[in-house]
Amino acid sequence: MKRDEYILAIETSCDETAAAIVKNETELIANVIASQIESHKRFGGVVPEIASRHHIEQITVVLEEVLQEAQLSVEDIDAVAVTEGPGLVGALLVGVNAAKSLAFSKQKPLVGVHHIAGHIYANRLEQEFEFPLLSLVVSGGHTELILMHEHGSFETIGETRDDAAGEAYDKVARTLGLPYPGGPEIDKLAATGAETIDFPRAWLEAGSYDFSFSGLKSAVLNKLHNAKQKQEELRAEDVAASFQANVVDVLSTKTLEAAREHNVKQVIVAGGVAANSGLRSALEAKFSDEACSLLIPPLSLCTDNAAMIAAAGAVAYRQGHRAEWDLNANPALSLERYAASGLTKEQE
Ligand code: KG4
Ligand code: ZN
Repeated sequence: MKRDEYILAIETSCDETAAAIVKNETELIANVIASQIESHKRFGGVVPEIASRHHIEQITVVLEEVLQEAQLSVEDIDAVAVTEGPGLVGALLVGVNAAKSLAFSKQKPLVGVHHIAGHIYANRLEQEFEFPLLSLVVSGGHTELILMHEHGSFETIGETRDDAAGEAYDKVARTLGLPYPGGPEIDKLAATGAETIDFPRAWLEAGSYDFSFSGLKSAVLNKLHNAKQKQEELRAEDVAASFQANVVDVLSTKTLEAAREHNVKQVIVAGGVAANSGLRSALEAKFSDEACSLLIPPLSLCTDNAAMIAAAGAVAYRQGHRAEWDLNANPALSLERYAASGLTKEQE
């Protein structure tokens, strides 16, 4: 009988200090997240220096807690996986160094993981992947359509040319005077408003799967500014609903077009904005008559966590990816470069 395999993962790329353990690639047995949102709220966004300091304070506690939750010791772990990028450099470094120390002290293999590969693989903790697979990645730093033909292969077929969807949510929310992070706040507000303002939709040139949200963000900011100057009444609920309808329409329409063109078997949604209720229902409606299946992760797996890093790390480990002891944080790591890295010459 095959022995059980355990991957312990660490994620510290932004404002969550997280560790998780996954058994046999898809079974999540322990998941610990120490969120720093409260510390960043009063600044209206993540302060990198504060994030790094919190990670240092939390990382050991989080690691002890995850092993306790799983009822395992470090000796039982097969490999240590860690987010190597992209993200905030100082924040990433805390996780990378913790993972290196842990792996080195027990002579365990070390596996570097791309944060977005993690967001995609969060879905595999829910359901097995079917290829070709299309992933809509929508987070605070990313808006991408990624095509996968097999495990560990990633082809970016569309990406944002300026702001990420989550970033646009956070900036519009701030202008409306809503607390950080703004995405969930706008989502809630939009549910009580009506789409009364026709903000321009950025379809870009025909056939392109790229996105652009900075024009929409400026249009919303201008509208609010002009209304204030003219002392016009503008309901925040309606602004939120109109903004959200715009973002959701562009994201879901482009995802459907790409899924059809590439004849995919499965469409998955990943990243913090996947928690958006408008996006979830629009995608469900659009894909209800399609031959491919649609997989939307539970809310707990949408925002940053280490379970997703363990899920992606387990596959990378099986495929032979190994990081050296000089593994460094890589704040601008690309998905394609990551997919080709860490393999020995014979494996490539
Ligand atoms: O994936 P994530 O936790 O961190 C990054 O890797 O960026 O995503 C965070 C982003 C933030 O911009 C937040 O406002 C957005 O996800 N977000 C939402 C919702 N929940 C979180 N955006 C829209 N609607 C939501 N319900
Ligand atoms: Zn993320």
